Amino acid sequence: MPDDTRYGSEMARRAVMTGAGALAACAALVACGSSGSQSVEVPSEAPLTPTVPAQPEPAGSLGDRLASTSDIPVGGGTVIAGKKVVVTQPVSGTFAAFSAICTHRGCTVNKVANGTIDCPCHGSRFAIADGSVVEGPASRPLARRQITVSGDAIELA
Ligand code: FES
Repeated sequence: MPDDTRYGSEMARRAVMTGAGALAACAALVACGSSGSQSVEVPSEAPLTPTVPAQPEPAGSLGDRLASTSDIPVGGGTVIAGKKVVVTQPVSGTFAAFSAICTHRGCTVNKVANGTIDCPCHGSRFAIADGSVVEGPASRPLARRQITVSGDAIELA
């Protein structure tokens, strides 16, 4: 007569070892059931870290052209939303540039009119000459951006 405890135990082992999950698990393990230590076999075709081919520097990345001098009205300015920059010309031939990000809550200013750079969110206005606050709620000036003017080209420095 078979030992019921041993027979039941053997059946349980077979049920576990013949299941598809056990086969898959054992296939992935090099030392399945041998010495007690296990190592995981990683398929050689699967890279551990993705490789990204080196990209060449984009042409013209040293100077970032913002506008032509003729695009900037005297006594006014232009918001270059795509670059998050405002370029102004407070007096003829003198250009300045500021971040277009309002210092109040981070909206992008959207208009230059009547000598100020205006934020649409809560009404802050900044002076075109130096970016200082003309009207709050902003309490800090717009950050100045460095530019170069070469011929008719205005570029970020
Ligand atoms: Fe510009 Fe509030 S974010 S006024």
